[in-house]
Amino acid sequence: MIERLAFGELAPKHHTVLRDAKGNLRWEECLTRRGFDGPYTIAYHERRPHEHRVASAEHGFALPTPAPQRPLAKRHYRSTSVPTPSGPQIDGRVPLLYNGDVVLGIARPDAPDPVYFSNADADELFYVFEGSGLLRTMLGDLRYEKDDYIYVPRGLFYRFIPDAGLQSWLCIEAMGGIHIPRQWRNDVGQLRMDAPYSHRDFKKPTFVGPMDEGIRKLVVKRDGGFHGFSMEHSPLDVVGWDGTVYPFVFPILNFQPRAGLVHLPPDWHGTFAARGALVCSFVPRVVDFHPQAIPCPYPHSSYDCDEFIFYCRGNFTSRRGVGPGSISHHPAGIPHGPHPGSYEASIGTKETSELAVMLDTFDPLLPTEAALGAEDPGYQDSFIGG
Ligand SMILES: [Fe+2]
Repeated sequence: MIERLAFGELAPKHHTVLRDAKGNLRWEECLTRRGFDGPYTIAYHERRPHEHRVASAEHGFALPTPAPQRPLAKRHYRSTSVPTPSGPQIDGRVPLLYNGDVVLGIARPDAPDPVYFSNADADELFYVFEGSGLLRTMLGDLRYEKDDYIYVPRGLFYRFIPDAGLQSWLCIEAMGGIHIPRQWRNDVGQLRMDAPYSHRDFKKPTFVGPMDEGIRKLVVKRDGGFHGFSMEHSPLDVVGWDGTVYPFVFPILNFQPRAGLVHLPPDWHGTFAARGALVCSFVPRVVDFHPQAIPCPYPHSSYDCDEFIFYCRGNFTSRRGVGPGSISHHPAGIPHGPHPGSYEASIGTKETSELAVMLDTFDPLLPTEAALGAEDPGYQDSFIGG
């Protein structure tokens, strides 16, 4: 939902006749948000888009289940140590931390999705830690590369076709949707000139027109279950569409970071807003320029936020013992801050090369058994001393 796009054949007005050269009627499909009150896209199909027979699902990824309750503590999980199933992403995602608003997991798909998949429970955001490939939807194709965010709106069916080689993704399901933070838009919805990104920074779908991949199976995730459907024809039969509901790619390095006289809070790194969560991008940047500034994040007790950080690469000035693929989880209720020595050592530094994805969540995040299996047991005590 960045701006309205329009491709292919469109009727001159909504809900009016559109025919092909032989006089065949096109079929509208309205993709709506918040009932009929929010953003929408209207696509025109060659065939009726709602002809589905109920079938077995046969595909689906693991759903989060709670691990036994544990003492409140700062946690570090090495996601690179979490085993993930071989195969397509639809079968291979592993949830690690979750609450009622978000499910945070990983996937390392090594095969294309054999069916179309639609997540009717959540908007989805993937961060490509490693890998590249193609996201295919009826609204067009999107190439993705390492360091890209991939956004897919709730309810849009798609298929991932990864390139050969290692894929490693952070997967975020956002049950209440994902959107551009309101403060980055002006009164007419355009991204503000002083926002940390512009319209040009987002990669939009390349519309390719009707296509038949020979796939006649759709799997829909709804209410925590996977539901299968079969179709008589290819659902990629869209001849045109316009609207603001569509998938996009945002390269994290297109985020334009801020630096201040003194340390700025994470809100300035806010990239995507979700119900109960803010997704922030920490990218290489110059740091605070007051001669006495302490660029390292100050210790803080954010009483209503859990903090989740997925570390990608670079030097993590405030933390020791974390590396690419590390996940730190600092819960509300106890203060968190830099490791011993980091705070003092940061004085006088001019820049940071850190690259990380952070989520602040308002409800507590719970770990899954898969997360516990990759936990660094010495992390809580690693903050003592110095
Ligand atoms: Fe924090």
